[in-house]
Amino acid sequence: MITPDTALTILGIESSCDDTAAAVIRHAPPARPEILSNVVLGQCELHAAFGGVVPELAARAHAEKLDLAVEAALAQAGLPLHALDAIAFTAGPGLIGGVLSGVMLAKGLAAATGLPLIGVNHLAGHALTPRLTDDVAFPYLMLLVSGGHCQFLIARGADDFTRLGGTIDDAPGEAFDKTAKLLGLSQPGGPAVQAEAQTGDADRFPLPRPLLDRPDCNLSFSGLKTAVLRCRDQLVAEHGGLRARDRADLCAAFQRAVAELLSAKSRRAIDAYLALDPPAPVFAVAGGVAANAELRASLQALAQEKGLRFLAPPLSLCTDNGAMIAFAGAELLRAGHRDDMRLAARPRWPLDSTAAPMLGSGKKGAKA
Ligand code: KG4
Ligand code: ZN
Repeated sequence: MITPDTALTILGIESSCDDTAAAVIRHAPPARPEILSNVVLGQCELHAAFGGVVPELAARAHAEKLDLAVEAALAQAGLPLHALDAIAFTAGPGLIGGVLSGVMLAKGLAAATGLPLIGVNHLAGHALTPRLTDDVAFPYLMLLVSGGHCQFLIARGADDFTRLGGTIDDAPGEAFDKTAKLLGLSQPGGPAVQAEAQTGDADRFPLPRPLLDRPDCNLSFSGLKTAVLRCRDQLVAEHGGLRARDRADLCAAFQRAVAELLSAKSRRAIDAYLALDPPAPVFAVAGGVAANAELRASLQALAQEKGLRFLAPPLSLCTDNGAMIAFAGAELLRAGHRDDMRLAARPRWPLDSTAAPMLGSGKKGAKA
């Protein structure tokens, strides 16, 4: 029987996109959770030539490297497999081949050891990270911004999330990556665009601010990318190429637009969250795009203005990792969840199953 203060040592396995990751955490309340190891084997080089993640290549690399990641995570934690209390793994949403690799490995380990299995929603892993890094009580407001995700969530419990809104098309990281590609910069695009933007004039190109006229918390980034494309083509037509100054100014304008859009919609999400009258209001951000300095600064200023505590986990826990999956597994076990060999991988798995599907969800329903 697992109670809220049972000490748990958990292995977390993550393979939903292009990071093959495994970690061991130990949580013995009231002590803070401890990350005993956090191994991430990235696949950037594998996909570099293709300008994006190739699902089949990613799945094969996960299948080849997951056991190495798990071995390394156990070795770094200094623990044998039988010292664990459970195996947590990403069961979706994500690229199905990679998710399946993780699910099958977790099931194999459970079959060999008899350890409990706990399938974790990848987004819950990100969304629960503030409780791994800081002493945060439910309910808190979360902005998830990465290469694949963009949503505002109110986290009410380990398995209880309310989605306030999100992107209706591209994720912001995707827009950073595409903008970098359009301007001939390296991948991943976020850090490259941020570096260029440092010397640029954000006011030279008036890029659009889609959906700001709507009162909801939804966002759109695909028009922004198209606007960058138009500006680029016009500059190339006028000057026969893109000058360094043009590139820096376009990057600065793009980054400003993303920061302003996310801040403006965060303001609305904060108002909706504060209406719940949370005793200790917290606004947390996670995902790779949360590394962006301009975005971080504007969200922090907003949180301060509104009287909320602002949290942004360290980058290694913002981007995909096994520790967040292990920790979410611990939270779920304490909330009474447990899976078995019948669990199936889920390519689509909205965190808030009651929220209306976003535009662009496709006929199979909401992805995440
Ligand atoms: O969370 P993440 O590692 O992977 C998932 O998408 O799940 O996020 C990766 C994304 C990429 O699109 C990358 O360009 C973006 O995060 N990113 C940034 C920055 N660093 C990484 N975007 C803007 N500014 C940055 N400094
Ligand atoms: Zn992720």
